[in-house]
Amino acid sequence: MPAQHARIQSIEEYEEAYRRSTENPEQFWADIAEPFSWRRKWDTILESDMVEGHNKWFKGAKLNITENCLDRHLATRGNKLALIWEPNDPKTRQIRYTYRELHQEVCKFANVLQNNGVEKGDRVCIYMPMIPQLAIAVLACARVGAVHSVIFAGFSANAISDRVNDAQASVVLTSDGLNRGDKQIPVKRVVDDALHHCPSVRRVIVTEHLGWPVNMVEGRDVWLHEELEEVEKTSPAEEMDAEDLLFILYTSGSTGKPKGVVHTQAGYMVWADYTFRNVFQVNENDVYWCTADIGWVTGHTYLLYGPLLSGATTLMFEGIPTYPSAGRFWEVIDKHSVSVFYTAPTAIRSLMATPLDNVLSYSLDSLRVLGSVGEPINEEAWHWYYTHVGKERCPVVDTWWQTETGGIMISALAGITPSKPARAGLPLPGVQPVLLSQEGKEIEGNDEEGYLAIKYPWPGIIRTTYGDHERCRQTYFAPYPGYYFTGDGARRDEEGLYRIIGRVDDVINVSGHRFGTAEIENAINQNSHVVESAVVGYPHDVKGQGIYAYVICREKISKEEAIYVEASIIETVVAEIGKIARPDKIQLVTGLPKTRSGKIMRRILRKVAEGDTSNLGDTTTLLDPNVVDEIIEGKK
Ligand code: PRX
Repeated sequence: MPAQHARIQSIEEYEEAYRRSTENPEQFWADIAEPFSWRRKWDTILESDMVEGHNKWFKGAKLNITENCLDRHLATRGNKLALIWEPNDPKTRQIRYTYRELHQEVCKFANVLQNNGVEKGDRVCIYMPMIPQLAIAVLACARVGAVHSVIFAGFSANAISDRVNDAQASVVLTSDGLNRGDKQIPVKRVVDDALHHCPSVRRVIVTEHLGWPVNMVEGRDVWLHEELEEVEKTSPAEEMDAEDLLFILYTSGSTGKPKGVVHTQAGYMVWADYTFRNVFQVNENDVYWCTADIGWVTGHTYLLYGPLLSGATTLMFEGIPTYPSAGRFWEVIDKHSVSVFYTAPTAIRSLMATPLDNVLSYSLDSLRVLGSVGEPINEEAWHWYYTHVGKERCPVVDTWWQTETGGIMISALAGITPSKPARAGLPLPGVQPVLLSQEGKEIEGNDEEGYLAIKYPWPGIIRTTYGDHERCRQTYFAPYPGYYFTGDGARRDEEGLYRIIGRVDDVINVSGHRFGTAEIENAINQNSHVVESAVVGYPHDVKGQGIYAYVICREKISKEEAIYVEASIIETVVAEIGKIARPDKIQLVTGLPKTRSGKIMRRILRKVAEGDTSNLGDTTTLLDPNVVDEIIEGKK
């Protein structure tokens, strides 16, 4: 008989779990899934086709994930804090919800959704700031069986309409505005712009947050607080099939527009809970804080679903690490006695660049475990985090995973498996990573490098890309049939620990946010001055990678004009994608290094952007080698 939601507690237990997960994966996952609250148990544990990319977990089971996040805890944890909300401005009021209170808020919001015609299977887009209503909205969608598609509230109107149209969403949830440090942003206005091009949307539900007057479209827009006045406090959860869609989350790849990664009910639930519990080793009295925005997958799995499934107390922060001072993270940790803290290397690097007193003046006594996610953490940042934040007593878990994997794949289990600077570590039970050569041969042994792929499905594996399974197959399964291809390169060190090197495709990672270079080029090319562009990443002290754009303009641009043209290009990118995709450097050029067949040699552009022009490799296949000299001369 498996223990109730047991947790791995020693290296021996890890080894034993890992062995069982590879020898008999189905029995392993059946045991892990057992203690959840099921309306009906599964008929089969796994049906998998890793060539076509079809994976079904717990088929035939019926459940609702919110019954597992909320109802299941009411008897034993009803009065325990489920969600603590810390506002942008520390002088304003924090909000706390017990499990019982959160349950009630979710039920009420679920009733609002149903009163507004939302039905099981409908897509609901959520474009909201980091306020409690965002968390409640996501859970309310899951409760009524609607598929949520959260759009990070920094994306532009164009990016919203692309996502709303791709998902054919009928309802959008938003707010009047948002706070970001000392700035306030009129969120509803951005949504209004977006929805001019979205005929599928018939209802917009607006949360009042800043108290700003907003334009309400008659017959389409309603205020959440008015809708809440009329609803019941309970709401029976919709019964969902294991493989019904839970959410869509758009993410960038190396080609085309961002694609809607789809996760489903049961597998995602089991994976989110299992990985959360084991990686962070959260205890009943811990206060856990993940700084990610719910607009990204980290916010989905490790701010919301993972912690609530495990019955933990999760903290949600509206603000930014540097407002009102660069000590804000540390102040919040002391204020709420945070014991498990999960953030991104880019945040650590930006805080490292400020005076050390900003962190040393806080006690940080409550901390027990530190986590890192989103991009490789460089050794310097790792040591700073370990020494000054964790005071050399908190294990650092460097968690490698992706939107497509649903949850953490390779990471130390805090205090249990080895944690070393710049190493994600060992795979979690259920994860079978391999290093592949370019030809797709498995590279055996340690101290080796290759393309990182996963050879066996895990419960959180991507199910499809919304509305276009062929794209999913092409991207993740076709490159090496039989494997899930991650797009990352990795090294297995002497001890078998994995070190993630970075993307091997045309995806760049800027402050932990993923962009396809083609996606940014497409945006730049919308500018009326521009004929063609090529975007590459380059090492950036704080962001990890910066965006370097080489741009060819229609007309000859003088030095004086260049300032305006560059500003106009930036404006275009902000309008097309959002501020987060703003190029760090723009270099106007008259030509790009192309081969005779017209292919841009990005390798050369990357080298120049990195400032390493000593060895550009073979340039003899270039159509016009002189272009390279011009580019080197004009480097920013
Ligand atoms: O390149 C890897 C990098 O981020 C990519 C996934 O991005 P996204 O889907 O936006 O998910 C981010 C949060 C999970 C990966 O392909 N990445 C993520 N975590 C790490 C990482 N690179 C190195 N170390 C990590 N811990």
